[in-house]
Amino acid sequence: MKTDYSDIIERVLIDEESLKLKIKQLAKTINTYYEDKDTLILVGILKGSVMFMAELAKSLNIDLQMDFMVVSSYAENTYSSGNVKILKDLDIDIKDKEVLIVEDIIDTGYTLKKTKENLINREAKDVKIVTLLDKPERREVEIKPDWSGFKIPNEFVVGFGLDFDQMYRNLPYIGVVKRSFYENIEDAK
Ligand code: IMP
Ligand code: MG
Repeated sequence: MKTDYSDIIERVLIDEESLKLKIKQLAKTINTYYEDKDTLILVGILKGSVMFMAELAKSLNIDLQMDFMVVSSYAENTYSSGNVKILKDLDIDIKDKEVLIVEDIIDTGYTLKKTKENLINREAKDVKIVTLLDKPERREVEIKPDWSGFKIPNEFVVGFGLDFDQMYRNLPYIGVVKRSFYENIEDAK
């Protein structure tokens, strides 16, 4: 099956070239910050962060290891309750390690707040956050990324790892989803 993306995407918010350029700039800052520190553990939050993490890691020239977690930001049936469940944990022991959480987007902030607290409790030496996208208007809990790619308006976006119902992660750009598209789907449920 092949989708006509013009049925789904209202407009391109951030094109491929701008994403790559911004990620290179983030990598430069992160390289400088960690250059005199111990081996860095990049912790990608699956699945949204995969493209960002891969692109970022290619431009990092410091010693690092990569690991991944799957977290769900809400318990069953309770949207944004603030509970974070770890569905897949890290393989690496992060005690006394420099940790950088790599996330696709910060929305309400619950996922990252809870995940960061969890990693700090494992006695990591330091836990920082880099996010590709940030929707500050939607924040419900206080959490600030240490490094952020783009602040975006309160619209639902897909592509470059971000999904709608597990689809469209493969788009090489960040696109705004047509409201009519997801409202139709909600009606159909
Ligand atoms: P929160 O900050 O705990 O509300 O959750 C952030 C998570 O919600 C992200 O990791 C994404 O998986 C998802 N999310 C939030 N906004 C969007 C969006 O516009 N498109 C796709 N996923 C989103
Ligand atoms: Mg996510």
